[in-house]
Amino acid sequence: MEEKLNSLLERRKVHYNSYELRIVNNSSEPNEAAWEIQQKLGKFHVAETSGDYNVIIKRNSLNLAGEMLKERNLSGSMVVVADSNVGPLYADVLQRSLLDAGFNARTIILPAGEQNKTLETVSALWYDFLQMGLDRKSTIIALGGGVTGDLAGFAASTFMRGIAWVGIPTSLLAMADSSMGGKTGFDLSNGKNLVGSFHSPKLVLADPDLLSTLPQAEFRSGLGEVVKHGIIADSKLFELCSNGEDSIQTNLDEIVRRAMAVKIHFIEADPFEKGIRAALNYGHTVGHAVELASGFHLRHGEAVAIGMVVEARIAEQLSIAANGLSRQIAHALAGIGLPIKIPSDLSKEAILQAMKVDKKKQAGKVLFSLPVKIGEVKTSIELVNLNMVFTED
Ligand SMILES: NC(=O)c1ccc[n+]([C@@H]2O[C@H](COP(=O)([O-])OP(=O)(O)OC[C@H]3O[C@@H](n4cnc5c(N)ncnc54)[C@H](O)[C@@H]3O)[C@@H](O)[C@H]2O)c1
Repeated sequence: MEEKLNSLLERRKVHYNSYELRIVNNSSEPNEAAWEIQQKLGKFHVAETSGDYNVIIKRNSLNLAGEMLKERNLSGSMVVVADSNVGPLYADVLQRSLLDAGFNARTIILPAGEQNKTLETVSALWYDFLQMGLDRKSTIIALGGGVTGDLAGFAASTFMRGIAWVGIPTSLLAMADSSMGGKTGFDLSNGKNLVGSFHSPKLVLADPDLLSTLPQAEFRSGLGEVVKHGIIADSKLFELCSNGEDSIQTNLDEIVRRAMAVKIHFIEADPFEKGIRAALNYGHTVGHAVELASGFHLRHGEAVAIGMVVEARIAEQLSIAANGLSRQIAHALAGIGLPIKIPSDLSKEAILQAMKVDKKKQAGKVLFSLPVKIGEVKTSIELVNLNMVFTED
C-alpha cells in the first residue's frame, strides 16, 4: 500500500508542485488542517454570537471592496466613514470601487483622534445618516483605525435599531485587534469605552498595503499587540517579530495574517468573554495602569509592551514560566523600539491604584493572564502582592 502511494505521489509530483499553496498536515484533526489553510490563504470565517462573517487579508485589495460587497449580497446605499487623516488618503479609492460595483456611495469624514471618540461624534453620524436618507438596508463602511471602527460600528449598531457595517482596518492595531470581535462603542469623560455594544460586521477586509502611510509611532504601538498575540498563542509569530523592523517589513503579510488568526481563535473559543479570551489581556493589567498613570503620554502599545515584560517577570517569580522568558520578550520588544521598563517618573501609588480599579478586577481580586512560555498563556491568576510589579530585572 505504502509503495503504491509513494509511486502515485512521485507521478503526480510535478502537478502538485504547480500549486501556489501547499500544506503538509500530519494531524488527523480536519479542523487543524482547515485552520492552517485559512491562515495561509488569509481568509477566515468567524462565527460570533452576533453574526457570522468573513475576514479577508489581501494586499492591494481596497479597490476590490465594491465587488466583494456585491458578492456578499449587500445592497442599498453605502456610506464610508473615515477620519481626517485616513479619508484624504483612501476614501476616494474606496468610493470609486463602490460606485464601479453599482452602489450608491458617499463618504463622511470625522475629526481624527481618541479625544473625538465621544457621544457627540456618534450623534453627528446619526444625523448625517438621516440627512443622507439611509434606511435599514444601508451599509456603513468603517475605513480607519480602532477609533473609526468603534465609532462607525456603534453608530451602525444603533441607527434604526441596527444596520449592517463592514470594517476596513487601516492601522496595525485595528487589523490585529479591534476590527474583529464585534465590539463597538465610545468613551465618556470618566473613562474609555464605557458605552458600547456587540455588533458583528458583515465583512472585515484588511489590506496590509495601507499600513505604508501609518505614522511609525502608530505602527510600533500596533506591534505591541501583535507581539502579544505571538506570546500568547503563536511562537512563529513571535519569532517573526523578534528580528527587528526590517525583518518585520519583509514579513508583514504573514505577520498580519498570523496576528489576526490569533484574535479570531480566541473570539471563537470564548464568544462571551467568560474564560480563555482573557488570554488577550496579557500585558494589559500592568499596561492599562501604566498608560493611565502616564496621563496617556504612553501610547497603548507602548504601555502594553512594558506590561508584558513586567508580567512575564511576575510569571517567572511565581514559577509559572522559566527564568529568561521576560528577557527574551524584552529583547524582542526593544528591537522594535518599544519601551520595556516602567518610566521612573511614574508614581508607584498611581499605578497600584489603577490596577485595583482595573475592570478585570473580579470579586475584589486583581487577575492576571501570564505567559508560561512563548506561545502559551495561563489565565485568571490572582496576584496578592501587587508590589511584585516593581521588582527590577
Ligand atoms: N473594539 C475593540 O475590540 C477594540 C480593541 C482594541 C482597541 N480598540 C480601540 O481602538 C482605538 C485605538 O485604535 P488605533 O490605534 O487604530 O487608533 P486610531 O484610530 O486613532 O488610529 C491611530 C492614528 O493613525 C491614523 N491612521 C490610521 N490608519 C492610518 C493609515 N493607514 N495611514 C495614515 N494614518 C492612519 C489615524 O488617523 C490616527 O491618527 C482605541 O480607541 C481603543 O479603545 C477597540
